[in-house]
Amino acid sequence: MQKIANLRDIERGKSITFDYKGKKALLVRTKDDKLVAYIAICPHEQGNIEWDEEINKFLCECHLSLFNVGDGSVYAHSSLFELNEGLTKIDLKVDEKGDIYAL
Ligand code: FES
Repeated sequence: MQKIANLRDIERGKSITFDYKGKKALLVRTKDDKLVAYIAICPHEQGNIEWDEEINKFLCECHLSLFNVGDGSVYAHSSLFELNEGLTKIDLKVDEKGDIYAL
């Protein structure tokens, strides 16, 4: 298990970037207070993924594909390519002190 942060470190709607097994990853605390984390690498051509709080989606900076926060699935992509594979989810655990761990 890898400690990422504590609940008090992350507000609703915000994200934290962390390293997961040598890869950039994103932890998001959703506006409805759920925690999710994904590898921040696009399954299309390994573009950088960022969290966009305004639209409540993950955004690939390379070709602007969007991914759903709940399950990392593809929300939208360019008509120039097919993209069915979503983001890779990281399982999380929160202990009684509010410490958040990647499993
Ligand atoms: S690399 Fe992300 S959509 Fe192409």
